[in-house]
Amino acid sequence: MTLPNLKGKSFLSLLDFTAEELLWLIELSADLKAMKKRGITQDLLKGKHIALLFEKTSTRTRCAFETAVYDEGGHVTFLDPISSQMGKKESIEDTAKVLARYYDGIEYRGYSQKTLEVLRDAGGVPVFNGLSDVEHPTQILADLLTIQEHCPGKGISDLKVVFVGDVRNNVAATWNYASKLLGFKFVGFGPKELFGGTPESHENALYTEDISCIEGADAVYTDIWASMGEEDIIEERVKLLGKYKVTAEIMAATKNENCLFLHCLPSFHNFETELAKEWIEKGVDIREVDDDVFRSKNSVVFDEAENRMHTIKAIMVATVSDKL
Ligand code: CP
Ligand code: NVA
Repeated sequence: MTLPNLKGKSFLSLLDFTAEELLWLIELSADLKAMKKRGITQDLLKGKHIALLFEKTSTRTRCAFETAVYDEGGHVTFLDPISSQMGKKESIEDTAKVLARYYDGIEYRGYSQKTLEVLRDAGGVPVFNGLSDVEHPTQILADLLTIQEHCPGKGISDLKVVFVGDVRNNVAATWNYASKLLGFKFVGFGPKELFGGTPESHENALYTEDISCIEGADAVYTDIWASMGEEDIIEERVKLLGKYKVTAEIMAATKNENCLFLHCLPSFHNFETELAKEWIEKGVDIREVDDDVFRSKNSVVFDEAENRMHTIKAIMVATVSDKL
């Protein structure tokens, strides 16, 4: 097979890549992960500089980019709106033109997909979507690697993935795109009020309120009920999504005792966070998953978190390195 050449390519949407390119990126991630476990890194990003622009908060994505780039001998600079001119005193277009003079790639996490496009078009260096209101493509690559590791012998195209809860959010939308490209079954199990948020409708995706449709799932996935920027509608979401909390009953409805539980994190699964505690004191339970499911043997959420780093490293190496 000829290796895909992704040098110089941006990753704004999962749909920016072909199925073959995505599968190759997952393979490359697995190889880089295996090498790191053996203590081998290869300076594949030596001399390369990556700018990390965050308009929304992050733990995993920021740390995954930083450690991935440092592992391979590159450097990063973290910028947020408070400590930079971006957006307030300088347009995104001008920011991109300046950064492209210093950096070999730009990661951006924020609100609009349009900002990502301006960064890519004005700067001319590869731009990576670290999450927007619309998509979270680097997340789904890590999730697919995780499922592959835990379902050996099953091809990605044979999977059935069920997203439970806020089926119109950025993570659910990216799952929809992945199923379109890679041919697996995707079920969005949630309230009909949240259907239709994803522009892509295709034969591999089904949105339903009918729990029987989750039977045979290989993976059940959920996410918080109010994404970043939507915190003020959490009470409304709790009313809509309360019955879609991932419980042992929902896991049992898959009729697959090996069904994996995935979550991009961060998660409200107990009352150990300020927000979950504040809301329960007011009588509102914002947990999208039961603690028992979150901590069950079927839960692979921390493997997913680790795989953010290996998959982001693969994307950086494939698009920025001169040595691949
Ligand atoms: N899953 C994820 O993107 O986590 P962060 O918000 O911590 O980056
Ligand atoms: N849907 C969530 C994902 C967080 C990683 C959000 O956008 O806040």
